[in-house]
Amino acid sequence: MAHILTIGGSPSTPSRSAGVLEHARAYLNERGLQTSNLSVRDLDSEELLCGKFNGPTMLKAKEIVASADGIIIGTPVYKAAYTGVLKAFLDLLPQSALANKAVLPVATGGTLAHMLAIDYALKPVLSNLGATHVLTGVYLLDQHLELTNDQDIWFTSHEAEERLTAGLDSLIEVFANRSERV
Ligand SMILES: Cc1cc2nc3c(=O)[nH]c(=O)nc-3n(C[C@H](O)[C@H](O)[C@H](O)COP(=O)(O)O)c2cc1C
Repeated sequence: MAHILTIGGSPSTPSRSAGVLEHARAYLNERGLQTSNLSVRDLDSEELLCGKFNGPTMLKAKEIVASADGIIIGTPVYKAAYTGVLKAFLDLLPQSALANKAVLPVATGGTLAHMLAIDYALKPVLSNLGATHVLTGVYLLDQHLELTNDQDIWFTSHEAEERLTAGLDSLIEVFANRSERV
């Protein structure tokens, strides 16, 4: 069974992007994929800020990333790009950490003006980490995402939910095709 890891890039709690990732995991679980989550908030801040590549939480995080077949990387847009703390984490990953993994980028933002942040800011970094199979990213606006119970996400736009579903289905299809070939 394919294992999909969601990587959450928001330093905040509650977090819309974390809620979107939780929604994504539930959707994938219902369709037979195994999922787990890694948030930048789980990592040790000193390891991140001081570039401790082999700190205990980084070593564990690197193992988790290595064991995933696919990755959904979810981040809020900060200053027209992804978050700094997500970059601090990605900087500590090995050069080919994302090789042979399907990657679906997802971003939440306050304005449509930054919907290309996935393409201009995040995708080049994913490529640098060896990702060759990056799926079409999903950009979601805050106004279409309502946080309930401090963590669950409620879509106030059917169109936005459909775009996320299409992204998740494209990820599921990657693994359906792989198992057909085995
Ligand atoms: C420090 C900061 C910078 C932000 N910069 C942008 C931005 O440049 N463009 C944008 O569309 N939204 C921006 N936002 C809004 C967030 O991207 C948006 O609210 C996002 O959904 C928050 O996700 P989270 O709840 O998972 O942290 C910013 C928010 C913060 C806190």
